[in-house]
Amino acid sequence: MRQRPAVAEGVPGNAVFLVGFMGAGKTSVGRALAKRLNWIFEDLDDRIEQREGRTIAEIFDAFGEPAFRQAEHAALLQLLDEAGSGTGKVIAAGGGTFAQPDSHRMLQASGVMTVFLDASLPELWARCARQGSGAKRPLQGSQNVFRELHAKRLPYYRTASLRVDATGKQVEAIANEIVEKLGLKKIVTRTGQGGPK
Ligand code: S3P
Repeated sequence: MRQRPAVAEGVPGNAVFLVGFMGAGKTSVGRALAKRLNWIFEDLDDRIEQREGRTIAEIFDAFGEPAFRQAEHAALLQLLDEAGSGTGKVIAAGGGTFAQPDSHRMLQASGVMTVFLDASLPELWARCARQGSGAKRPLQGSQNVFRELHAKRLPYYRTASLRVDATGKQVEAIANEIVEKLGLKKIVTRTGQGGPK
Protein backbone atom coordinates (compact mmCIF):
# COMPACT_ATOMS: atom_id res chain seq x y z
CA MET A 1 0.00 0.00 0.00
CA ARG A 2 1.23 3.48 -0.84
CA GLN A 3 1.89 5.61 2.20
CA ARG A 4 1.16 9.30 2.33
CA PRO A 5 4.18 11.54 2.86
CA ALA A 6 5.65 11.52 6.33
CA VAL A 7 5.16 14.66 8.37
CA ALA A 8 7.26 15.98 11.22
CA GLU A 9 5.15 17.88 13.71
CA GLY A 10 6.59 20.60 15.89
CA VAL A 11 10.19 19.84 14.98
CA PRO A 12 12.45 22.83 15.67
CA GLY A 13 14.54 22.34 12.54
CA ASN A 14 14.80 19.10 10.66
CA ALA A 15 18.37 18.03 11.30
CA VAL A 16 20.50 17.28 14.33
CA PHE A 17 24.27 17.04 14.10
CA LEU A 18 26.06 15.03 16.76
CA VAL A 19 29.54 16.34 17.46
CA GLY A 20 32.23 15.43 19.97
CA PHE A 21 35.54 13.66 20.34
CA MET A 22 36.52 10.21 19.11
CA GLY A 23 34.78 7.54 21.19
CA ALA A 24 31.94 9.84 22.36
CA GLY A 25 29.34 7.54 20.77
CA LYS A 26 28.21 9.84 17.94
CA THR A 27 27.41 6.95 15.60
CA SER A 28 25.70 4.63 18.08
CA VAL A 29 23.71 7.43 19.74
CA GLY A 30 22.89 8.83 16.29
CA ARG A 31 21.48 5.50 15.13
CA ALA A 32 19.41 5.12 18.31
CA LEU A 33 18.14 8.70 18.07
CA ALA A 34 17.15 8.31 14.41
CA LYS A 35 15.34 5.05 15.18
CA ARG A 36 13.50 6.62 18.10
CA LEU A 37 12.31 9.52 15.89
CA ASN A 38 11.81 7.68 12.57
CA TRP A 39 14.35 10.09 11.16
CA ILE A 40 17.09 9.14 8.70
CA PHE A 41 20.58 8.47 10.04
CA GLU A 42 23.67 9.61 8.17
CA ASP A 43 27.31 9.22 9.12
CA LEU A 44 29.71 11.83 7.79
CA ASP A 45 32.69 9.46 7.81
CA ASP A 46 30.74 6.93 5.74
CA ARG A 47 29.77 9.67 3.30
CA ILE A 48 33.42 10.72 2.93
CA GLU A 49 34.44 7.13 2.19
CA GLN A 50 31.65 6.71 -0.38
CA ARG A 51 32.50 9.97 -2.13
CA GLU A 52 36.24 9.34 -2.19
CA GLY A 53 36.10 5.60 -2.86
CA ARG A 54 38.72 5.03 -0.11
CA THR A 55 38.72 4.35 3.60
CA ILE A 56 39.56 7.16 5.99
CA ALA A 57 42.92 5.56 6.73
CA GLU A 58 43.69 5.34 3.01
CA ILE A 59 42.89 9.03 2.54
CA PHE A 60 45.18 9.98 5.45
CA ASP A 61 47.92 7.65 4.20
CA ALA A 62 47.83 8.72 0.58
CA PHE A 63 47.13 12.44 0.89
CA GLY A 64 47.50 13.52 4.54
CA GLU A 65 45.19 15.30 6.96
CA PRO A 66 44.66 18.54 4.94
CA ALA A 67 43.22 16.50 2.05
CA PHE A 68 41.04 14.56 4.47
CA ARG A 69 39.69 17.84 5.90
CA GLN A 70 38.87 19.09 2.40
CA ALA A 71 37.01 15.86 1.63
CA GLU A 72 35.25 16.14 5.00
CA HIS A 73 34.17 19.72 4.32
CA ALA A 74 32.82 18.81 0.85
CA ALA A 75 30.88 15.84 2.26
CA LEU A 76 29.51 18.03 5.05
CA LEU A 77 28.30 20.58 2.52
CA GLN A 78 26.50 17.82 0.62
CA LEU A 79 24.85 16.46 3.78
CA LEU A 80 23.77 19.95 4.83
CA ASP A 81 22.24 20.57 1.40
CA GLU A 82 20.34 17.30 1.65
CA ALA A 83 19.22 18.08 5.20
CA GLY A 84 17.24 21.02 3.85
CA SER A 85 14.96 18.61 2.00
CA GLY A 86 12.40 18.40 4.79
CA THR A 87 12.87 14.86 6.11
CA GLY A 88 14.20 14.57 9.65
CA LYS A 89 17.88 13.64 9.73
CA VAL A 90 20.33 12.74 12.44
CA ILE A 91 23.92 13.16 11.29
CA ALA A 92 26.99 11.91 13.14
CA ALA A 93 29.99 14.15 12.46
CA GLY A 94 33.57 12.94 12.72
CA GLY A 95 35.54 13.80 15.85
CA GLY A 96 37.39 16.65 14.18
CA THR A 97 34.63 18.12 12.02
CA PHE A 98 33.25 20.70 14.43
CA ALA A 99 36.76 21.80 15.39
CA GLN A 100 37.77 22.76 11.82
CA PRO A 101 37.13 26.51 11.55
CA ASP A 102 35.54 26.41 8.07
CA SER A 103 33.32 23.40 8.84
CA HIS A 104 32.43 24.89 12.24
CA ARG A 105 31.46 28.16 10.56
CA MET A 106 29.37 26.37 7.96
CA LEU A 107 27.49 24.32 10.57
CA GLN A 108 26.82 27.32 12.79
CA ALA A 109 25.66 29.46 9.85
CA SER A 110 23.29 26.71 8.65
CA GLY A 111 21.26 26.95 11.85
CA VAL A 112 21.04 23.15 12.35
CA MET A 113 20.95 21.89 15.89
CA THR A 114 24.29 20.64 17.11
CA VAL A 115 24.64 18.32 20.08
CA PHE A 116 27.98 17.94 21.86
CA LEU A 117 28.29 14.41 23.20
CA ASP A 118 30.68 14.94 26.08
CA ALA A 119 32.36 12.18 28.06
CA SER A 120 35.29 11.93 30.43
CA LEU A 121 38.71 11.54 28.84
CA PRO A 122 39.36 8.12 30.42
CA GLU A 123 36.04 6.87 29.07
CA LEU A 124 36.73 8.25 25.57
CA TRP A 125 40.15 6.61 25.57
CA ALA A 126 38.80 3.29 26.88
CA ARG A 127 36.05 3.22 24.23
CA CYS A 128 38.49 3.91 21.41
CA ALA A 129 40.84 1.24 22.76
CA ARG A 130 37.95 -1.23 22.93
CA GLN A 131 36.77 -0.43 19.40
CA GLY A 132 40.32 -0.53 18.00
CA SER A 133 41.42 2.53 16.01
CA GLY A 134 42.01 0.46 12.85
CA ALA A 135 41.01 2.05 9.56
CA LYS A 136 38.92 4.75 11.17
CA ARG A 137 41.09 6.79 13.56
CA PRO A 138 44.56 7.65 12.31
CA LEU A 139 44.67 10.58 14.77
CA GLN A 140 44.05 8.57 17.93
CA GLY A 141 47.78 8.47 18.73
CA SER A 142 49.21 7.98 22.22
CA GLN A 143 47.28 8.86 25.36
CA ASN A 144 49.14 12.20 25.56
CA VAL A 145 48.39 13.11 21.95
CA PHE A 146 44.75 12.13 22.54
CA ARG A 147 44.51 14.36 25.63
CA GLU A 148 46.11 17.35 23.92
CA LEU A 149 43.90 17.08 20.85
CA HIS A 150 40.83 16.81 23.07
CA ALA A 151 41.80 19.97 25.01
CA LYS A 152 42.37 21.88 21.77
CA ARG A 153 38.95 20.94 20.44
CA LEU A 154 36.87 21.50 23.59
CA PRO A 155 36.27 25.24 22.96
CA TYR A 156 34.68 24.36 19.61
CA TYR A 157 32.55 21.53 20.98
CA ARG A 158 31.28 23.85 23.70
CA THR A 159 29.66 26.14 21.13
CA ALA A 160 27.13 23.40 20.21
CA SER A 161 23.42 24.13 20.81
CA LEU A 162 23.26 21.43 23.48
CA ARG A 163 25.79 19.53 25.60
CA VAL A 164 24.91 16.07 26.84
CA ASP A 165 27.12 14.23 29.30
CA ALA A 166 27.42 10.70 27.95
CA THR A 167 29.75 9.44 30.67
CA GLY A 168 28.56 6.10 32.02
CA LYS A 169 25.22 6.30 30.22
CA GLN A 170 23.53 3.83 27.89
CA VAL A 171 22.99 4.81 24.27
CA GLU A 172 19.17 4.74 24.60
CA ALA A 173 19.23 6.98 27.67
CA ILE A 174 21.39 9.53 25.85
CA ALA A 175 19.07 9.47 22.82
CA ASN A 176 16.05 10.02 25.10
CA GLU A 177 17.78 12.92 26.82
CA ILE A 178 18.42 14.60 23.45
CA VAL A 179 14.78 14.09 22.37
CA GLU A 180 13.52 15.67 25.58
CA LYS A 181 15.96 18.56 25.77
CA LEU A 182 15.51 19.58 22.13
CA GLY A 183 11.78 18.84 22.08
CA LEU A 184 12.17 16.61 19.01
CA LYS A 185 9.10 14.94 17.61
CA LYS A 186 8.83 11.55 15.99
CA ILE A 187 7.91 11.53 12.31
CA VAL A 188 4.51 9.95 11.91
CA THR A 189 2.84 8.78 8.72
CA ARG A 190 -0.87 9.07 8.29
CA THR A 191 -1.10 5.29 8.01
CA GLY A 192 0.65 5.08 11.37
CA GLN A 193 3.22 2.66 9.98
CA GLY A 194 6.28 4.69 10.84
CA GLY A 195 8.55 6.72 8.63
CA PRO A 196 11.88 6.11 6.96
CA LYS A 197 14.06 3.35 8.34
C1 S3P B 1 38.72 12.09 13.41
C2 S3P B 1 37.77 11.26 13.93
C3 S3P B 1 37.17 10.16 13.17
C4 S3P B 1 37.34 10.36 11.67
C5 S3P B 1 38.77 10.69 11.35
C6 S3P B 1 39.24 11.97 12.03
C7 S3P B 1 39.26 13.19 14.27
O1 S3P B 1 35.78 10.07 13.46
O2 S3P B 1 36.52 11.39 11.20
O3 S3P B 1 39.57 9.63 11.74
O4 S3P B 1 39.87 14.12 13.72
O5 S3P B 1 39.03 13.15 15.49
P1 S3P B 1 35.20 9.47 14.87
O6 S3P B 1 35.11 10.59 15.84
O7 S3P B 1 33.86 8.94 14.50
O8 S3P B 1 36.15 8.42 15.30
